[in-house]
Amino acid sequence: MSTIYEIPCVKGFIRMCNDGWLQGWHERNGGNLTYRMTGEDVAACRPYFDAEPREWVNMGVQADNLAGEYFITTGSGKFFRNVEPDPIHSIGIVEINDKGDSWRIVWGLADGARPTSEFPSHFMNHSVRKAATNGANRVIYHCHATNVIALTYILPLTDRDFSRALWQSATECPVVFPEGVGVCPWMVPGGADIAMATSEKMKTYQAAIWAQHGLFASGPDFDITFGLAHTIEKSAEIYVKVLSMGGGLIRQTITDDDLRAIAHDFGVTLNENFLD
Ligand code: 13P
Ligand code: ZN
Repeated sequence: MSTIYEIPCVKGFIRMCNDGWLQGWHERNGGNLTYRMTGEDVAACRPYFDAEPREWVNMGVQADNLAGEYFITTGSGKFFRNVEPDPIHSIGIVEINDKGDSWRIVWGLADGARPTSEFPSHFMNHSVRKAATNGANRVIYHCHATNVIALTYILPLTDRDFSRALWQSATECPVVFPEGVGVCPWMVPGGADIAMATSEKMKTYQAAIWAQHGLFASGPDFDITFGLAHTIEKSAEIYVKVLSMGGGLIRQTITDDDLRAIAHDFGVTLNENFLD
C-alpha cells in the first residue's frame, strides 16, 4: 500500500461520495457520510495518521458504546463533488475519546477543516444502530434526496404515511425496509436536538426522513446503505410522478394483502402497524 486511498475502507468511502454526487443528491455542501472503522481498517490507516493528532472537541452528545472508535467522515462545508479529486481537504478520520463525548482529527480534513456539522446526528445514529444490529451497522449517510424532500410538503409527516406510500410505489420496498421508515418534523439542522430525535427513530428503522431537508440511511457497508437510500428515493420519485400525472388520482396500487404476500414469499416481517 503506498497511499491511504488504496485502503479498501477509504476507497469505498470516496466511491460512495461520488455515487451520491452523480445522483444529484449533494448540491454544494449538501449531505454527509460517516463510516465506523473496524480494527483492521484502523491498523491499515494508522501509518498515514498525522504525527500529532489535533485537539479534542466536545460533541454535545455522548455514547458509551462508541468510546475509542474511529470514523471516516466528510468535512463540514465540503462538497461531495470534490471528494474524489481532493480527498485530503474533503474527508478525514476522527478518533472518539474514552468518555464517548469528543472527537479529534487524526488524518485528513487538511487546512483547518472539521467533521460534518451533522456529526452529532451521525454519532447518535451510529450508537443506536450499532446496538440494534449487534455491531453490524457501520455506515450512516445523509443526502438531500430530491423526491423524498418533495413528498414532505404534501404527505402527513408520520412514519405510517411515508412507509405506506414508499412500500406501495415500488415492489421491492417492503423487502428492503420491512420495518418502514421514520419521519422527523422540520428541525434546525446540525445540533444535539435533531440528533436525539433522529436516533430515537433509528431504534426502529434503518432510515429516517427529515422534513423539508433530506434522508438518513444506515447499513453494515457502503453498498447496502447506498442501496437503501437509492431504493427509498426511487420509490419517492415514482410516487411524485404518479401524483403529478394523475392530478392526485391513483387508480390502482399495491394492496395491503399484496404487501403481506410479498413479505410471506420473501421471508420478511412487515411492520403490521402500517397495514390495514
Ligand atoms: P455539512 O457541510 O456540515 O456536512 O452540512 C451539510 C448538510 O447537509 C447539513 O444538513
Ligand atoms: Zn442536510
